[in-house]
Amino acid sequence: MKAIRYCEYGSPDVVKLDDVEKPVPADNQVLIKVRAASLNALDAYMIRGAWLNRLIFGLRKPRDTRLGRDVAGVVEAVGKNVTQFKPGDEVFGISRGALAEYACTPERALVMKPPNVSFEQAASVPLAGLTALQGLRKGKIRLGQKVLINGATGGVGTFAVQIAKALGAEVTAVCSTRNLDLVRSIGADHVIDYTKEDFTKSEQRYDVIFDNVCNHSFFERRRVLTPKGICILAGMGGAGVKEGQAIGRIAGNLFTARGLSSFTDQKFAQYMTKMSKQDLIMLGDLIQAGKVRPVIERTYKLSDAPEAIRQLDAGHARGKLVITVGEESR
Ligand SMILES: NC(=O)c1ccc[n+]([C@@H]2O[C@H](COP(=O)([O-])OP(=O)(O)OC[C@H]3O[C@@H](n4cnc5c(N)ncnc54)[C@H](OP(=O)(O)O)[C@@H]3O)[C@@H](O)[C@H]2O)c1
Repeated sequence: MKAIRYCEYGSPDVVKLDDVEKPVPADNQVLIKVRAASLNALDAYMIRGAWLNRLIFGLRKPRDTRLGRDVAGVVEAVGKNVTQFKPGDEVFGISRGALAEYACTPERALVMKPPNVSFEQAASVPLAGLTALQGLRKGKIRLGQKVLINGATGGVGTFAVQIAKALGAEVTAVCSTRNLDLVRSIGADHVIDYTKEDFTKSEQRYDVIFDNVCNHSFFERRRVLTPKGICILAGMGGAGVKEGQAIGRIAGNLFTARGLSSFTDQKFAQYMTKMSKQDLIMLGDLIQAGKVRPVIERTYKLSDAPEAIRQLDAGHARGKLVITVGEESR
């Protein structure tokens, strides 16, 4: 089968379309005929081989050369212990090696695709949608609360704006000039162009800040939180952030959430996104109900995935970049 792989660390140019063995599902796994996959900032970090990642994924070169996490497709075969899926089921979820014609993943990482949601839309949801949903949940958002989303136009941000709106918040979206119309179109009540205005200098106070970028200090963000407000530290900037800057932001987030935050009534919360079937089903239901619309900047054929990864790596994706896989993509 055809699969996108990276056999060394480096720029997006190391990514290649290769012929590899079709995977065989283990007893607890589902073999999916992939119809669509989407990219995440994580894919760009892995390819570049940041030192923190190398400790986990291979010091000199990646141990696992597969790429992609978010998948949607049709079940082709199941392992003998799989009980929830059968061949022909349309599914979406998280699978290593999603950028390929076939991928295998444990059944706990998949849910059924809602019928009126396309494979491309479903593939755009998992990691970004779960990150937005699980992060915003920490904010315990109540009707009418003021929520600011910093980094509102990437994969995670576009879901966060819409989920916060669906929870009844008054949403302020922070983005660059070219994306002002985009964030308005997905429901933001107010917009701040970060190239012209620093949200931490405004007189406005927010009950919840969902921070996808984490490019402001603890004190700057405290200044614009309400006295019992919470700042959710979701990320460190997106695919384009340089390694040194990313490490600084990760360390800053840890220090802020575990240290500084314990001395104030305002809270700073850090988290790691977890696979949750229940949350994926909830996201599918929100999309099916029209409350959330996946924002897909562009779809690419599998053979054009390296070009998509170059675009992701530039750090200014507008929503999600989706790879379609199928007969037409060869
Ligand atoms: N906590 C977790 O477990 C977890 C899981 C998944 C992802 N994440 C993190 O979540 C973050 C977002 O991921 P993603 O996939 O959405 O990334 P992405 O698609 O690459 O989007 C990044 C966005 O950041 C915006 N941005 C860049 N500089 C900005 C600035 N100075 N101010 C405001 N916005 C700025 C860009 O918008 P413009 O084009 O308008 O500049 C872009 O839309 C990443 O840091 C990622 O590591 C965390």
